[in-house]
Amino acid sequence: MKGTEELMKEAILQALRESGGYVSGQELCRQLGVSRTAVWKKIRQLQDEGYVIEAVTNKGYRIVSSPDIISQQEIKSRLETKKAGAFVICLDRIDSTNQYAKKIAEEGAAEGTLVIADEQTAGKGRSGRVWKSPPGSAVYMTLLLRPLLEPARISMVTLVMGMAVAEAVRELTSLEAGIKWPNDVVVGGKKICGILTEMSAELSRVNYIVIGTGINVNMKQFPEELAQTATSVFLETGREYPRAELIACVMKHFEAFYEEFLENGDMSRLRDRYNELLVSRERGVRVLDPKGSWSGTALGIDAFGRLLVRDEYDEIKEVYAGEVSVRGIYGYV
Ligand code: BTN
Repeated sequence: MKGTEELMKEAILQALRESGGYVSGQELCRQLGVSRTAVWKKIRQLQDEGYVIEAVTNKGYRIVSSPDIISQQEIKSRLETKKAGAFVICLDRIDSTNQYAKKIAEEGAAEGTLVIADEQTAGKGRSGRVWKSPPGSAVYMTLLLRPLLEPARISMVTLVMGMAVAEAVRELTSLEAGIKWPNDVVVGGKKICGILTEMSAELSRVNYIVIGTGINVNMKQFPEELAQTATSVFLETGREYPRAELIACVMKHFEAFYEEFLENGDMSRLRDRYNELLVSRERGVRVLDPKGSWSGTALGIDAFGRLLVRDEYDEIKEVYAGEVSVRGIYGYV
C-alpha cells in the first residue's frame, strides 16, 4: 500500500500543477492538513528527486520543471481520468508490460489498471516481432480493461487507443500526428507509436484485454534497421517531453473516446475523427493480402473499423485488420 508520505508528495505536485503559479505554504498546509514544516520537508524531498520548485517569500511555491521519471507520484498527480489509470503500477524494468498485465489480470486486477515500465527486456511487437525497449526515453504501458463486448469487437479498441495517442501527441506538441491504419501512429511518414492488444476470451465473452502501447518520446536515434521507418517526438521537434505528461494526456483522450465507443460498441461515433487522422485517406495504398496483393485508394474506415479501399475496377472493398497489411504506394505510410 502507498504510504502517506508518497500521497503527500502526490498531493503537493497536483496542487502546484493545478495552480500553474504560486501556492502559499499556508494553502498547502490547509489542503494537506499538515504543518508548514511537514510541507517544507516534502518540498525538499521533491527537489532532491529532481523537481525544480521555486520558493519565494510571501508568495509560496511554484513548480518550474519535473524530472522525466516514471513514478506513481509523477503519473498520479497528472491523471485527470476516472477509469483509465484508476490503478497505476510503475516498474523500473520488466520483460513486457503486456505480460505483466496479463498475469495480474489472471489474479483479478481491476479494470483500468495501468502498468508502466521504464524499460522492457522482452518487449513484444505485433506478429511476433520484438519491440526494442531501452530505458529512460520511451513510454511502455499497458492498460487492462474488462469490456462487456463480443471478442470480435476488440480490434476496434486498438483503433481507439491509436486515436488517443495521435490526439495526445497533437495536443502536447506541434506535431501533426496521424494514423496509419489500423493503429500505428505516425509523424512525417514515420512510426512514432505501436499498439499490441491481447485478449483472454471465451466464444462470446471477453474475460479481459490488455492494450500495450509503445511511444517513442525522447529517443535520440534508432538502430539502422529502424531508422527509415521510425521516429520519436524528440527527433521531430528537437525538444524533450516529460513522458508522464504524455501518458496522462493519452489516458484522458482514451477515456473520452472509449466512452463514445462503448455507446454502440463500434466506431460509428468516432469514425469521422478517425478518418481525419488517417494519413492514407484518399491516397494510393497497396493491400498485402497473402492470397494476392492489390492496389487501390483508401477511403477511410467504416463503423466496424474496416478500411474501405476502392480498387482499380472502382469496386469498394472492406479490408479487415489482422488479415492483411496495407502500405502506401511510395513507402511505409
Ligand atoms: C507494434 O508492433 O507496432 C506493437 C508494439 C507494441 C509495443 C508495446 S510497448 C508496451 C507493451 N508491452 C509490450 O511488450 N508490447 C507493448
